[in-house]
Amino acid sequence: MDNFPFARRTNWRQETNDLNKVLEDFGSRHIPVLDLTASNPTGCGFSYPEGMLSALNSLENLQYLPDACGMKKARRDVARYYARQKVTVSPDNIILTASTSEAYSFLMRLLVNPGEKILIPRPSYPLFQFLLEINDVHFEQYPLHYDGQKWRLDTLALERLVDSKTKAIILVNPNNPTGSYISPAELNFLNELCGKHQIAIISDEVFFDYALGAGDFVSLSGNQKALTFALGGLSKTLALPQMKCAWILASGPQVILKEALSRLEIIADTYLSVNTPVQNALGLWLEQAPEMQAQIIARVKENGQWLSTHLSGHTEILALQGGWYATLRIPAVKSEEEWVLEFLKEDHVSVYPGYFFDFDREAYIVISLLPPASVFQEAAGRIMKRLAKI
Ligand SMILES: Cc1ncc(COP(=O)(O)O)c(C=O)c1O
Repeated sequence: MDNFPFARRTNWRQETNDLNKVLEDFGSRHIPVLDLTASNPTGCGFSYPEGMLSALNSLENLQYLPDACGMKKARRDVARYYARQKVTVSPDNIILTASTSEAYSFLMRLLVNPGEKILIPRPSYPLFQFLLEINDVHFEQYPLHYDGQKWRLDTLALERLVDSKTKAIILVNPNNPTGSYISPAELNFLNELCGKHQIAIISDEVFFDYALGAGDFVSLSGNQKALTFALGGLSKTLALPQMKCAWILASGPQVILKEALSRLEIIADTYLSVNTPVQNALGLWLEQAPEMQAQIIARVKENGQWLSTHLSGHTEILALQGGWYATLRIPAVKSEEEWVLEFLKEDHVSVYPGYFFDFDREAYIVISLLPPASVFQEAAGRIMKRLAKI
């Protein structure tokens, strides 16, 4: 088995890192850890709207009426969700998938030949590397810079990375973990660049509804000026990652859009991966989204507020427009790895090191703002106490 010729794309380093070794050791010795990496909303004590599960109890679920892009009525429900946000979209431009990750895979298969590339933001969502490698897609990172008040796209650097092999630019709007949205000026730039070079835009908008205030930002759902795929899904919109339903909303110049949709339909038809009960429940669930989102936004704001009033003098919270995470700059007197191990071993608090998201310098940590306030305050308080000792 040692020499079995597995595909090279799966030659990942799989050894357990030091952080996970400590976590495993604590787990085996039943030592509790306060988890500030918690990003699974189902474990964070939110109340799900009553009646949510009864939406699954329908005789319609005993019928299988496969439709490649998702059942028409479910796609209409997603279109209605956009309409409530004053975005008019046709259900025909929506393709349902089992997850955003699957949506990315479909788009890679649609857009990119082996050896061609995609541009992704840095810092950003760590899963990109795997999602792209699994699909034999090369990638390069374009930088986002923090100017002390706001994260900005480095438009010059992005433009320099574009060449004849570039097939798509991925945006995360708002970005994970920086919580930064795309501004109208950045969208104009992207539309011009992508139109000129025949590049598609993939805008991951799973956190879009979690803005912490009004601001100068835009959604790319329905963007007409370049071939655009906006991604959304239940894992964040409704805090229901276990229900496995997401979507691609395609838009852009009509002729290219039509061709993209008919090719995507064939890709989706090959898998038919979205289950029927969830599609039947989608209409009711999406109507309940504001109730779920209000709870989460209140939690994120409460934890964020607490953090900003209890910051150690040596620490800075980077400005946050939305999303579920806070990024903290901490003194680079030791490496992120050393800090994070110290928080874990000494304070029994787990946080993300900045390198996990590919920040271009040290030292940053990223913490989730989802945990219940009492857990959050205890955990973040321990970290601040340690940082105050420097
Ligand atoms: C930016 C971003 N996109 C997508 C996802 C995952 O979405 P899904 O569960 O639909 O695959 C996550 C999960 O944390 C995320 O942070």
